[in-house]
Amino acid sequence: QAAPLIDGFGRRITYLRLSVTDRCDLRCRYCMSEAMTFLPRAEVLTLEEMEAIVTAFVERGIKKVRLTGGEPLVRRGLPALARAIGRHLATGALEELTLTTNATRLADHAEALYAAGVRRVNVSLDSLDPERFRTITRTGDLGRVLEGIAAGRAAGLAIKINMVALKGLNEDEIGDMLRWCAAAGHDLTLIETMPLGVVEEDRTDRYLPLDGVRRTLEERFGLIADGHRSGGPARYALVPGTTTRIGFITPLTGNFCDGCNRVRLTASGRLYMCLGHDDRVDLKQAWRTGGRPALDAAIDAALGLKPLRHEFRIDAAAPAVARHMSVTGG
Ligand code: GTP
Ligand code: 5AD
Ligand code: SF4
Repeated sequence: QAAPLIDGFGRRITYLRLSVTDRCDLRCRYCMSEAMTFLPRAEVLTLEEMEAIVTAFVERGIKKVRLTGGEPLVRRGLPALARAIGRHLATGALEELTLTTNATRLADHAEALYAAGVRRVNVSLDSLDPERFRTITRTGDLGRVLEGIAAGRAAGLAIKINMVALKGLNEDEIGDMLRWCAAAGHDLTLIETMPLGVVEEDRTDRYLPLDGVRRTLEERFGLIADGHRSGGPARYALVPGTTTRIGFITPLTGNFCDGCNRVRLTASGRLYMCLGHDDRVDLKQAWRTGGRPALDAAIDAALGLKPLRHEFRIDAAAPAVARHMSVTGG
């Protein structure tokens, strides 16, 4: 039996984020450039290969798998992949299978995802105003996203809304978003924009530090910090009188890397050890040429590459890493 996953700093790796495609039907300004090039299809892992590699990770102690993209639901056959991975839930080897999605296609797939064992999904939604939503996503139709969220709920999925806090774009809407989430029974997570890949927007202009936002919301809503954690970097507080939690993901104003438990597999089969670094190992090559023994050896080598923390700086002349968020799925 291969050894469990522990990095060079003694951190136990129990969470795998799998980007099933780098493509997306939206073009969020902080995430993508207008002129994105995507992976040639020949370079993308097949669904069978993804299932095999995830199975190896589960056997080595991964307890939580999150499917991401790009937009995971634009990958054909995604529900079947979820079903295949979901079999590890039934044996108890895997504790949670989740998804981060823009929800444009969630209405079509919510029931299949629930049947596969998915119980909660994170939905990226930066504005509740149709025009603003279109401005931020460049191509998005808010109505479809809201239908997707409603269908997700109807199918039994808990929904957490991810809102990237953007100065001058949605900062005036954060209170309204929290009220909307509380009324609908969703959790909300606010995220500081991170410098990954060159985009047309100036990230310094859009950056909104969340320490100040949190203080304002605490006063306005009387938030109760309850120490809740969802296994990720967010720090949560409860909205009094509701079941809604608000989370804060603060890579810039509050580093959380000492508790990092995750690695990221791209659609092309590269294992990235940190969102903010370029260290990676080619698992596709290992798997295709040497099967499971080579895969295990490549994973072991990758563990030694995991850095202590990211070095994101919002005012740097160039982004900390050249690849876009859509390559690793956040
Ligand atoms: P749960 O806590 O399980 O609900 O999910 P999550 O917040 O880990 O995942 P999600 O896909 O919803 O990501 C939300 C935001 O957190 C995205 O902007 C991610 O890029 C960011 N994020 C997730 N994990 C990390 C991490 O390890 N480092 C950094 N810097 N950002 C992360
Ligand atoms: N900084 C912070 N969050 C980002 N996301 C995409 N790009 C960025 C960025 N540059 C968010 C999406 C989604 C999550 C996976 O990552 O909005 O909710
Ligand atoms: Fe697509 Fe998500 Fe990037 Fe928006 S943030 S362009 S929805 S991958």
